[in-house]
Amino acid sequence: MDFAQAGDLAMLQSEKGKKIIFRLEAGRQYQTHKGMISHQELIGTRWGSTVETHLGTPFHFLPPTLRDLLQTIRRRSQIIFPKDIGYILLRLSIGPGAKVFEAGAGSGALTTAFAWMVGDSGKVISYERREDMLEVARSNIENLGLQNRVTFAHRDLADGISESGFESAFLDLPNPEIYLSHVREALTFGGTLGVILPTTNQVSKLLGAMEDTGFGAVEVAEIMLRFYKPVPARLRPRDRMVAHTGYLSFARRVA
Ligand SMILES: C[S@@+](CC[C@H](N)C(=O)[O-])C[C@H]1O[C@@H](n2cnc3c(N)ncnc32)[C@H](O)[C@@H]1O
Repeated sequence: MDFAQAGDLAMLQSEKGKKIIFRLEAGRQYQTHKGMISHQELIGTRWGSTVETHLGTPFHFLPPTLRDLLQTIRRRSQIIFPKDIGYILLRLSIGPGAKVFEAGAGSGALTTAFAWMVGDSGKVISYERREDMLEVARSNIENLGLQNRVTFAHRDLADGISESGFESAFLDLPNPEIYLSHVREALTFGGTLGVILPTTNQVSKLLGAMEDTGFGAVEVAEIMLRFYKPVPARLRPRDRMVAHTGYLSFARRVA
């Protein structure tokens, strides 16, 4: 669709790169930090247009990408960054129809990406032991209309996983090594486990536990992404970058 419709998620992106995302609803107005813009004016506008607030401030009018959505979701925990999520989706082979398990949900950034990718025929089962965190994750998923693809459980992974037959699972919580036997039982043979950890000594512990618990084909990786200032005459990297987020470990359930 080339033109925005009522009900679509829309994004205003300023010249400096600030992004504002909202759902288009007739009769409503959006108050930016640089003036007001009416939804009515935007409904029927061609995506990619430049639109102006009542103060004359220009914004790009764009449909948000998954990465835009991940950058702007409400956070109460550390979230997994888009650069890491991209590789996680590949390694766990997350696509239409996939059935994936995760713990903990945190703010639901990874849950959002999984839900986006699995489509209406797939399923994400997400465990979280903190109720306040679960609320944030749930509201982020509902705001994007992805709730039919996700089942959240207020549950501690220490109590086991009540479902099984997952082709993939991801853990983003402290001491993942103590839960590996639960995850192994929930995965299909050949299924893939992914884990993110902030320090290398934690990864060493995890690798030892993977060896002891029936996981093989292990990989440890770190993703580095450097952005450039997109100026044709002075093309060079930006001054700052996110130098460290976490280490990604992957392994398969082996027989
Ligand atoms: C860093 S956050 C996860 C962030 C999430 N991956 C995201 O991208 O938004 C870690 C979460 O794991 C939860 N957690 C820690 N131990 C847990 C356990 N044993 N069972 C379930 N959830 C747990 C914490 O409450 C916290 O919300």
